[in-house]
Amino acid sequence: MHIHKFEKIWLIFGVTTLIIFLTVIGVSAFYLGNQPPSCLATVNPENVDTTAPFNEPGLKKVEGKEWDYELVFVASAFSYNPGQVEVPLEAKVKVIATTKDVIHGFEVAGTNINMMLEPGFISEYVTTFDKAGEFLIVCNEYCGVGHHTMTSKIEVIE
Ligand code: CUA
Repeated sequence: MHIHKFEKIWLIFGVTTLIIFLTVIGVSAFYLGNQPPSCLATVNPENVDTTAPFNEPGLKKVEGKEWDYELVFVASAFSYNPGQVEVPLEAKVKVIATTKDVIHGFEVAGTNINMMLEPGFISEYVTTFDKAGEFLIVCNEYCGVGHHTMTSKIEVIE
């Protein structure tokens, strides 16, 4: 079978590109640990208030983990608990959040924290707050008449 020279080059280019992409994805996922945000952690939305860690929302220092603090938020129409929280500058923080009723957003304005909170699931994000100041948390999923009033605040203090 005769394959034209340009066709061969094109085939080699295509297959090589595919191999490069698959290698990049493979290394990124399995070696660097870049996984999609976890949807595997679940919580019964009716028992959120009595289930750890959501029975004690707010900032908690933890030992022996890859992060120094856990920052727990419970969302419900139309507020977040806590409504305001202080976080030390440069602290490595795991944000853990869920919702008691409908889908809410969890966007920390001015940072790259932006999660969807779904009833029954726990959304988590590990981050370091390296800028001091006030950061507004806003709900960016339409959740009802009070959607636009749904906010909280993170104060990063030195
Ligand atoms: Cu909660 Cu919009």
